[in-house]
Amino acid sequence: MVENQIKTILCIGAGYVGTPTMAVIADNCPEYKIIVVDKNIDKIRAWNSDSLPIYEPGLEDIIKRRRNKNLFFSEDIATSIKEASIIFVSVNTPTKKFGLGAGMASDLQFIELVARDIIKYAQEDKLVIEKSTLPVKTAEALSRVLHSNDKGLKFEVLSNPEFLAEGTAINDLQHPDRVLIGSMKTESGIESAKILRNIYTHWVPTEKIKLTNLWSSELSKLVANAMLAQRVSSINSISALCEKTNADVEEVSHAVGMDSRIGSKFLNTSVGFGGSCFKKDILNLVYICRYYGLNEVADYWEQVVIINEYQQNRFVNKVIDKMFNTVVDKKIAVLGFAFKANTGDTRESPAITVTKMLLKERADVAIYDPKAIENAKLDLADYSQSNNLHFYNNAEDAIKDSHAILVLTAWDEFKELDFEEAYRTMKKPSFIFDGCNILQHEQLKNLGFNVNCIGKNLDRLKDDE
Ligand code: NAD
Ligand code: UGA
Repeated sequence: MVENQIKTILCIGAGYVGTPTMAVIADNCPEYKIIVVDKNIDKIRAWNSDSLPIYEPGLEDIIKRRRNKNLFFSEDIATSIKEASIIFVSVNTPTKKFGLGAGMASDLQFIELVARDIIKYAQEDKLVIEKSTLPVKTAEALSRVLHSNDKGLKFEVLSNPEFLAEGTAINDLQHPDRVLIGSMKTESGIESAKILRNIYTHWVPTEKIKLTNLWSSELSKLVANAMLAQRVSSINSISALCEKTNADVEEVSHAVGMDSRIGSKFLNTSVGFGGSCFKKDILNLVYICRYYGLNEVADYWEQVVIINEYQQNRFVNKVIDKMFNTVVDKKIAVLGFAFKANTGDTRESPAITVTKMLLKERADVAIYDPKAIENAKLDLADYSQSNNLHFYNNAEDAIKDSHAILVLTAWDEFKELDFEEAYRTMKKPSFIFDGCNILQHEQLKNLGFNVNCIGKNLDRLKDDE
């Protein structure tokens, strides 16, 4: 492929990764035409409207700036494939729900369908870039499907995994810690990697762009997520020990993180990690290890997921225990449903597990989230007929007449609530369970609340002073 012929870049998959990534490329590379397509026509229409389908700080500004200038959202997958010489594939790669590897392996059907679309519509050679997170060796399978075409077309497959986090996606894309480009170590593979690198060098310093072999690139993405999640599970496991021993998990986390070899990031205890990727990517890593007979390695990583489930169960058990072992018909205000602050995404949110467990205990659950209420309704669709499930447009109404407040997402607005007024409107005794450790616990106790958080036993800590 000749570099100066590249004018149109296509991204297949207009989701949390595809659209922000293409928006940032469009913003930094005005000479390229960027097209984003998706099989979900409603999503494409929403990207072309004033009401964007996802909430991501800073994204709307870029879309307004670039849309219909050099950034286009199109329903026409066939023409877009024909037109583009570089195709990013950013479709979802969920955990397989059926057959071999169910519950562990990646479901690669969407990737393969994309490959089949590409060979169906392509009329010239193309560079195909894996943006989705994929099991190591997927590029080989993708390349074989692409080269099964009978038009004599050549496709070079690169791996270019994405490391953005939701809520900070635009900043992460604009200032990445690194950009990974994996290619075959053939002449055309290396040339293709350089073509992609030249796109990123429009705004990313060259020393941050790392060219590797295909398999290192694919595997590095899984390992990065596994290691991030492992830190969260590590501190969450210690939070349970802190509650037993009167240590304070935040003091422990701070002290440990001050060791420059360990570092302070990703050591905030919580009700558990959520998000569409940590669990699925670790399970995928576990599956690959087992496939290669590395059972000890698989068990090691699986424990990260097991501790995450333990932490969510532990939280609900504590709520029930503290509330006199019954929550039947007690109104419980769940503040926050997104898997983290600054996103409306609820995929694998601990709030889903917590809410379902409370509904099974027949609590009356009142949910409020500033950005995730519509997704919460979809997640809890099985309970839509339940008289015990209610959604609110503001925290105050969710809290009124409740027995307990559960903070499950670290939204800033929850820190600023008028808790004196909240206490006045609640049933007594009034409980707060801070699943994010973001509230002022001593102040809340002074107002009369029975306060619980993660990784510190507030009553016993006070007695020890
Ligand atoms: P998403 O579900 O938000 O978006 C994927 C989109 O692909 C959907 O809109 C879907 O309709 C579309 N799609 C699926 N099959 C298609 C096909 N054959 N043709 C056209 N469109 C098709 O998913 P996402 O969160 O953007 O994740 C995409 C990939 O990126 C996953 O592999 C994920 O692991 C990885 N990733 C996600 C994040 C994140 O923060 N969400 C970060 C890094 C990497
Ligand atoms: C994560 C990674 O951070 C990204 O690098 C990666 O690209 C992405 O997954 C992916 O592959 O999908 P994301 O899931 O958007 O990004 O958000 P994170 O900030 O990593 O948070 C994940 C979960 O861990 C959240 O539920 C968060 O509340 C929790 N968390 C995070 C903690 O409980 N404690 C912490 O110290 C940090």
